[in-house]
Amino acid sequence: MATPHGAGLAALPLLELSSAMIRPASKSDRTQICWLECACFGWERLLFGLWPRIGRRGISTWIAEVGEKAAGYSITYYRELDHQMVWYVGGIGVLQPYRHNGIAQQLMAAVFSDHPTLWLHVRATNRAALNLYEKLGMHELRRITRFYSNGDDAIVMVTHSYIN
Ligand SMILES: CC(C)(COP(=O)(O)OP(=O)(O)OC[C@H]1O[C@@H](n2cnc3c(N)ncnc32)[C@H](O)[C@@H]1OP(=O)(O)O)[C@@H](O)C(=O)NCCC(=O)NCCS
Repeated sequence: MATPHGAGLAALPLLELSSAMIRPASKSDRTQICWLECACFGWERLLFGLWPRIGRRGISTWIAEVGEKAAGYSITYYRELDHQMVWYVGGIGVLQPYRHNGIAQQLMAAVFSDHPTLWLHVRATNRAALNLYEKLGMHELRRITRFYSNGDDAIVMVTHSYIN
């Protein structure tokens, strides 16, 4: 099957981006988002099986497009944190050639506009993502040792509004 990126990520030219267009994803974007997820995280996650629910209630998914091309996505849904159901960022990714252009920040701004109170897990070794969330004003709630299958720790991060 051909990828939505045509000749492959390596063939993309260096980009001069002003901004991406961010829009809510619909059912028809499911395949595209699965490809984005796999390109950003590998096949193992595959949206934790959530992809059939994209475009339905209870899941908020955004897609970032540069021109005609999908460049990034975010997926958010309700998940329990300390006995409360709170919107949870289950995935955010930007394709490698499009990174460092503020697309993740734009995606998170869209997520915040719908759900100002959020939480998420981030791999303790993922400096890029930790910086992103810190820059957006999120805080570390706790560390969970050996949370990921390879033994990496996770940091649980929350918005300021969750703490107050
Ligand atoms: C993390 C990720 C989503 C960032 O996407 P991006 O569009 O490149 O991020 P932005 O351009 O919006 O950067 C916003 C901020 O994030 C931080 N950041 C982003 N990439 C970084 C990097 N490689 N190293 C350090 N900090 C980084 C910086 O604070 C940056 O602000 P600055 O540009 O003022 O320095 C992207 O690297 C990615 O898709 N990684 C793979 C998937 C992943 O790890 N997702 C997060 C899971 S929790």
